Amino acid sequence: MEQLMRNFFLFLSKNKTLTKLAKKYGLRFGAARFVAGVDIDHAARKIKEINEDGFVVTVDHLGEFVDNEKEAIESADECVHAIEIIAEKGLNSELSLKMTSMGLDISRELVMTNLRKILDAGQKHNVIVTIDMEDYERCETTLEIFKELRNEYDNVGTVLQAYLYRTEEDIQELDDYNPYLRLVKGAYKESPEVAFPEKKDVDENYKKLIEMNLLNGNYTAIATHDDAIIDYTKQLEKEHNIPRDQFEFQMLFGIRIELQSKLLKEGYKMRVYVPYGNDWYGYNMRRLAERPANVMFVLKGILKK
Ligand code: FDA
Repeated sequence: MEQLMRNFFLFLSKNKTLTKLAKKYGLRFGAARFVAGVDIDHAARKIKEINEDGFVVTVDHLGEFVDNEKEAIESADECVHAIEIIAEKGLNSELSLKMTSMGLDISRELVMTNLRKILDAGQKHNVIVTIDMEDYERCETTLEIFKELRNEYDNVGTVLQAYLYRTEEDIQELDDYNPYLRLVKGAYKESPEVAFPEKKDVDENYKKLIEMNLLNGNYTAIATHDDAIIDYTKQLEKEHNIPRDQFEFQMLFGIRIELQSKLLKEGYKMRVYVPYGNDWYGYNMRRLAERPANVMFVLKGILKK
């Protein structure tokens, strides 16, 4: 049943009509459970509170699968604006983005121009920019672009997904780039030809990748809400004397807040991924797919409106 629900929400996450409707009607339908606000000013207030509690942040202007140039340029400009607000308000925040919102599906030239514009602003204001990893179809191009940009910028990072068979090789290949990598389990619906279908295999691979990347000496963001993976990382830290400034934990805004606070109290660097904007639909559907029980929060959100 849970698997059926998961597939259903992942199917919904790619529905373009519902995405457009959700954008039109703004932050309704319980979206606020996982989203910090409609614009960067709302998000900045939230980030300030989160910073004051001792957490660091990465902020994400929601948006994906953009299919026209004007919208892609607007999304890039919004990212530059967000970086300027981070600097102006002295927030402790990085920026995360999705390349399909920057025009990845339109042209390579467009996405590169947009990314360089954002990375230039990040470099000017000392803000790290991480490129989220989307579906498998776009993984190879995402990594090619990341490598090209990594040769030009020291403030760019990216994400690797533990459910993909290829990731182990990617970690080794990226070692030459001294990368800032965020490791996640993976949130899209992928075929068993490219991704481990069983959760237990994803979890095992995730542990292996964390160990590889840490022992390669690269900065590692362990982005998970899974106690077992977090405990495994702590065990690696002890066994291999990994310095605490070589890794951090990351979790999504609104998810497992007590665990976030616990890790902070234990002295770990804890980063919260804070999304904002109107284009919340795909993001929220993936959160429901991860935990169908979240439907109750969303339903409560609808009833409150
Ligand atoms: P898992 O799904 O096994 O969950 C472990 C436990 O965490 C659950 O038992 C539950 O208690 C809790 N939990 C997990 N999800 C929850 C939810 N939605 N609501 C409430 N509780 C929940 N993916 C991707 O493909 N590309 C990307 O670029 C990113 N980026 C990214 C950044 C950051 C900072 C995070 C934390 C995650 C991502 N992800 C992602 C999403 C990631 O791939 C994955 O889908 C989610 O993190 C859920 O997986 P967990 O590792 O938490 O484990």
